[in-house]
Amino acid sequence: MPPPGLVGRVKALVLIGGFGTRLRPITYTVPKQLIPIAGKPVLYHVFDLIPPDIEEVVLATGYKSEVIEAYVRSHPPPWPVRLVAESEPLGTGGGMKNAGAGMSDPFYLLNSDVIAAADLGALRALHEHRGGVGTMALAEVEDTRPYGVAALGPDDRIEAFVEKPEPADAPSHWINAGFAIWAASVLERVPGGRPVSFEREVVPGLLSEGLFGFRLSRYWDDAGTPERILRSQQLLFDDARGGRAGLPAGALGSGPVAAAKGVRARGASFGKYVTLGEDVTVEPGAHIENSILMDGVYVEKEAMVLSSILGPRVRVRTGHRVAGQTLGEAVEA
Ligand code: GDD
Ligand code: MG
Repeated sequence: MPPPGLVGRVKALVLIGGFGTRLRPITYTVPKQLIPIAGKPVLYHVFDLIPPDIEEVVLATGYKSEVIEAYVRSHPPPWPVRLVAESEPLGTGGGMKNAGAGMSDPFYLLNSDVIAAADLGALRALHEHRGGVGTMALAEVEDTRPYGVAALGPDDRIEAFVEKPEPADAPSHWINAGFAIWAASVLERVPGGRPVSFEREVVPGLLSEGLFGFRLSRYWDDAGTPERILRSQQLLFDDARGGRAGLPAGALGSGPVAAAKGVRARGASFGKYVTLGEDVTVEPGAHIENSILMDGVYVEKEAMVLSSILGPRVRVRTGHRVAGQTLGEAVEA
């Protein structure tokens, strides 16, 4: 008999690979999952969706695994965590296979680069009610091209699934939101020993076993490009998940600003939607708006930073204006 309280507890597998090519040059040194959005890394916004009573969370890592590991050790989540790193990128399916030994039945599968309001407990309840091999959270988007798209039948049964279709071939506007619950048996359906796209190679073959959709009704966004990261930040602040979102001591303007420890910004001014990492300095007369400044960024007086993401220790010189840019670690602008 399992001990009381453990009955029905499940595990979660979080996919944390990929090179973050669309976020270079920042991702040469920082994995995309650790870029702070509205005060905390996107990975931790995903962690917030994982129910607290989870048995274990397995992080399937690859690129910059050691950076993820150091961050997770210094910012421990509320459940046990285990990292399984790939030496070569195995794709989403390969990552699941590589890290999936000992998974619970069912288990949650989560991508780590999306922002959403989603109730995974309700997702699981629906899965247990409807049965089948899995239940996938779906978000409704205008442009389906970068995503996996579902055709929905009665009871939200997924009748077709096409990864990244041409617009003419997209069966609907409901896309794989990057969260699902799967029967453990799906891991046996993933070929081993080579890179595998779970969405392209495995999911279509599972439809006949019963795959259902769980429609998200609040916000969802992909945080995989600079524009979408800044859009996600707005969503999070507007949803009041932006942490301590006032203004730094002695600063002027509207905010909201999510400021980490060690920020100095007296006499600087802030427009809407700003994240300041640890030990960021913004000198008097400088203005920041709709931007993310990572740890140790230094903005000199009278400079302006608009709609930009500045990697760790970037320095913006007196009077300079940075707009719509993504700058890698320690760049001078
Ligand atoms: N461990 C591991 N190994 N993880 C990986 C690898 C890998 O080789 N490649 C990608 N991942 C992780 C990414 O970090 C991300 O969290 C997740 O798997 C999905 O990979 P992406 O590369 O971000 O895929 P995508 O954004 O093009 O498409 C996926 O996400 C969409 C929603 O944002 C698919 O799942 C689509 O169906 C979905 O609509
Ligand atoms: Mg992605």
